[in-house]
Amino acid sequence: MEQTPRNYRTPDAAIDLTELHPLTAPDFAKRKKSNRKISMITCYDAVFAQIIARTPIDCVLVGDSCAMVVHGEKTTIPATVDMMITHTRSVRTGLQAAGLAKFLVADMPFLSFRAGLPVAIEAAGALMRAGADAVKLEGVDGHEDVVHNLVQSGIPVMGHLGLTPQSFHTLGGHKVQGRNNSSVEVLKAQALKLEQLGCFALVLECIPEKLGGEIARQLSIPVIGIGAGREVDGQVLVLHDMLGLTGFTATFVHRYIDGSALVVQALKEYCDDIDSGAFPGATEVFGP
Ligand code: KIV
Repeated sequence: MEQTPRNYRTPDAAIDLTELHPLTAPDFAKRKKSNRKISMITCYDAVFAQIIARTPIDCVLVGDSCAMVVHGEKTTIPATVDMMITHTRSVRTGLQAAGLAKFLVADMPFLSFRAGLPVAIEAAGALMRAGADAVKLEGVDGHEDVVHNLVQSGIPVMGHLGLTPQSFHTLGGHKVQGRNNSSVEVLKAQALKLEQLGCFALVLECIPEKLGGEIARQLSIPVIGIGAGREVDGQVLVLHDMLGLTGFTATFVHRYIDGSALVVQALKEYCDDIDSGAFPGATEVFGP
């Protein structure tokens, strides 16, 4: 049976891969100094890692959001160190298969850095051995020693303040932070503390734009925002949200494609082709 050509969307132009220069931890502050924004995206598996490797994305985050996005949980709290190791290895393997390096950050999940220094160092070491170039920790108060020791042990640390999803129950949900004077001052002090402890970058999640800008200007390390406005030094989004694969439509998410509609359409065509006998076609079967 004749194969009918399908209308795939093809990219406008191939990206020149020689133009992609992977960042190192010290490059983050240099990027801020040179006023060039940093792009970060989450990734949890080798398939998407191979795709991301072919883009100009600066930094890939194996976020503990994998608990929600991949495992279907309501919060990030069920994420474990083992889960993060599995996803980190998968993403690193995908990046390597593509033959292109990217700076890879792995999240330290709920409580993994709150049960004492040796436990935290062990967990961070396992994530680095799984292929991470750095780890990200939420908050700072009460685990200053962990941040300091990781940095002194040669593990770059990215901070994370504002909406810290691991504190879902204390915060009363996934809510915008830094809306009153006292919380603004707390956030500014925590951000300074993280810089002083040696963090190479800071994620600020879901805070007013003005506060995002103020914190970015008070630090020499870059601030990477998610729902933190336009005055920060870079942006991060959850990959599946920006591809329209999840139903998550928060104010700060920009959907670049309607991924789930594309997948549904493809699966419908597949079913139709099976029904009509158009699939498998002549080129999709083994000859004698
Ligand atoms: O886990 C995650 O995806 C994150 C981003 C939202 C920054 O921490």
